[in-house]
Amino acid sequence: MKNYNISIIKGDGIGPEIIDEAIKVLDAVAKVCDFTMSYKEYLMGGIAIDETGVPLPEETVVGVLDSDACLFGAIGGEKWDKLDRSLRPETGLLSFRKQVGVYANLRPAVVYNELLNASTLKPEVIKNCDIMVVRELIGGIYFGEPRGNDGQKAFNTMVYTREEVLRIGKKAFELAMSRDKKLCSVDKANVLDVSQLWREVMSELSKDYPEVELTHIYIDNALMQLVRNPKQFDVIVTGNIFGDILSDAASMVVGSIGLLASASLGDKTAVYEPIHGSAPDITGQGIANPIATIQSAAMMLRHSLGEEKAASLIEKAIKGVLKDGYRTKDISLFDAKEILNTSKMGDIIASYVKK
Ligand code: IPM
Ligand code: MG
Repeated sequence: MKNYNISIIKGDGIGPEIIDEAIKVLDAVAKVCDFTMSYKEYLMGGIAIDETGVPLPEETVVGVLDSDACLFGAIGGEKWDKLDRSLRPETGLLSFRKQVGVYANLRPAVVYNELLNASTLKPEVIKNCDIMVVRELIGGIYFGEPRGNDGQKAFNTMVYTREEVLRIGKKAFELAMSRDKKLCSVDKANVLDVSQLWREVMSELSKDYPEVELTHIYIDNALMQLVRNPKQFDVIVTGNIFGDILSDAASMVVGSIGLLASASLGDKTAVYEPIHGSAPDITGQGIANPIATIQSAAMMLRHSLGEEKAASLIEKAIKGVLKDGYRTKDISLFDAKEILNTSKMGDIIASYVKK
């Protein structure tokens, strides 16, 4: 029987609670589809600072690179907010992404028609909306040198090389080929040199993908278009900081941030995580929504393990549970039949996983 080695980073806050539910569902789907999963846990974030003194122990990077894929919860919390930047949980996360080389961050914003009322946008504007945001994750202003702050002057540098833009561009064009063949590249080419290069490279690449319709828009207009008429988009590709901003906005098209998954892909490994954070305000109360993490586990089955059937069984189970009116607290205002805690939501999704 096929076995997959999965590295697990539970992290801080609600991280451990939601990861446990995703593992429950993974085990259920493995049984149905005849494969097995082995898990190994690693530390990152605040818990790593507490236990080892640093937010990203070397062992975590080695362990993740050695696994078939990594399932990640969330990191950070008030307790570590006052630490020097080099020691903060977020610095550990950025350094982790860079060291394991996950350059392509896929953030799907797919509306569950069962939960149309969860969005603040009108149901007819979002019904059947299915957008894939592709964010470059290990370059741009997040990592550019030089950078600094001496109290009088502070600066960061936005850099992209042709090579980096080509790499993320190819990924986005390939995704567009597997979907509706529409790719929108988002930049600020009316102001930034780095965006001019970005735009040039995307246009050159489009010659290799003649079936894909490529458009370019500026980041400010992109956000406006996203809330005006999200269904005009299929795949969106953009750089690190624009993607950070745009993907949060896209998540609100869908409604609850507790529903949204992500995949970070590289040449060596891939990391799957919910896009919400560690939610310290609700930690330990058993009310966190595990669906984003369970959906991330489905993406892991699809993109890293080649288990498409298992991935779609999980997605079907999530939809079935929502359709039958089961809700966690964050989505309980909308057509709820029964409100479940985190663990019961995991149980019921696992029980809906059937061939
Ligand atoms: C995200 C987060 C991170 C980012 C933070 C926590 C560093 O906002 O994954 O979107 O900016 O990349
Ligand atoms: Mg963000």
